[in-house]
Amino acid sequence: MKVIVTGSEGQLGKEVLRQFDKSCYDITAVDLKEINITNLDEVLSMVRRVSPDAIINCAAYTNVDACEKDFDSAFAVNAIGPRNLSIASKEVNAKIVHISTDYVFDGAGVLKDNNIRPYMEFDDTYPKTAYGKTKLEGENFVRLFNDKHFIIRTAWLYGEGKNFVRTMLELSKAKDEIKVVDDQRGTPTSTEELTRMIRCLIDTENYGLFHGTCEGQCTWYEFTKEIFLKKGITTKVLSCSTEEYPSPTPRPKYSVLENYMLKRTSSYMFKEWQEALEIYLKRQG
Ligand SMILES: NC(=O)c1ccc[n+]([C@@H]2O[C@H](COP(=O)([O-])OP(=O)(O)OC[C@H]3O[C@@H](n4cnc5c(N)ncnc54)[C@H](OP(=O)(O)O)[C@@H]3O)[C@@H](O)[C@H]2O)c1
Repeated sequence: MKVIVTGSEGQLGKEVLRQFDKSCYDITAVDLKEINITNLDEVLSMVRRVSPDAIINCAAYTNVDACEKDFDSAFAVNAIGPRNLSIASKEVNAKIVHISTDYVFDGAGVLKDNNIRPYMEFDDTYPKTAYGKTKLEGENFVRLFNDKHFIIRTAWLYGEGKNFVRTMLELSKAKDEIKVVDDQRGTPTSTEELTRMIRCLIDTENYGLFHGTCEGQCTWYEFTKEIFLKKGITTKVLSCSTEEYPSPTPRPKYSVLENYMLKRTSSYMFKEWQEALEIYLKRQG
C-alpha cells in the first residue's frame, strides 16, 4: 500500500513513520519544507506523482494561542490544507486519514442525569477557539470532497516533540514544587496508541468520524502526579484552579471523548491512559 504522510516531522507524523512497517507500506513522508499543504497546486502535483492508496494528514497549526492571534494562517493550515488533501485524494481514488481535536466541542461536556458525560461523535460541536473553529472546518472539508475518509478526533496528545509530559519533566529538574490546574479534565493519549488505531483502520472500509483517545480520564494535576510517580520524581505537585493559572486562550474545562464509533465498528481498544504513559516513559529511558 502506497501512503503519503503529511506533517511527518510532527509528534504524530514521527510515530506513524516509526510504526508503519516498510515491508507492507511504501511511505512518502513530507513536511512543510517539502510540501505546503495550504497550496492546492503543490498538493495536487505531489499526489498525482505518487498516486497513493492513502494519505495520512498529521500536519496542523497546533499552537492554540498563536491560532487566536493569526486566524488566517490557522485557517489555511487547519482547514484549507485538509481540503486540498481531500480534493487530491479523491482525484486519485485514495483514502484519507485526517486528525482532529476535542477543541471542536464547547468544553463543557454533555449533561445527562445531573452528571457530565463524555462527548460522542454525534454530539453537537461548538468550538470556542480559533484552533477549534479551523479544525472543525477542516473536518467538514475532508468529508465534503472524499467519501473514503477516516476523521479521528484525539486529545491531550504526546509523543516525540514538545508536549505536556516533556514540559513537566523539564520543570521538575528546576523546581521543588509545581502548581498544575486541577479543574480541566481530559484523557492523555500517546501517539503510539493513536497510530495503532490508524493502522487498524487504514486497511478497512470502515469510513467515518471517530473519537480516538486512551481510556479513562484525569485532570492536568492528576496527569502530572502520575508522570512523577512513574519516574520517581520527588518534586511536589500542588493543585490550582484555572483562575490561578490563566492562559491567553481559555482552555476547555471538560475534554473527555468517548470512542463510541470505534468500539461499535471495530475490535480496537485503546489502552488506559496510565498504561500508555508507562510505555511512553519507558521508551524515553
Ligand atoms: N498536540 C495535541 O495535544 C493534539 C490534541 C488534539 C489533536 N491534535 C491533532 O493531532 C494532529 C497531530 O498533532 P501533533 O501534536 O503531532 O502536531 P505537531 O507536532 O505540531 O506537528 C504538526 C506538523 O505539521 C507541520 N505543518 C505545519 N504547517 C504546515 C503546512 N502548511 N504544510 C505542511 N506541514 C505543515 C508542522 O511543521 P512546523 O513544525 O515546521 O510548523 C509539524 O511538523 C494534528 O491534527 C492536531 O491538530 C493534537
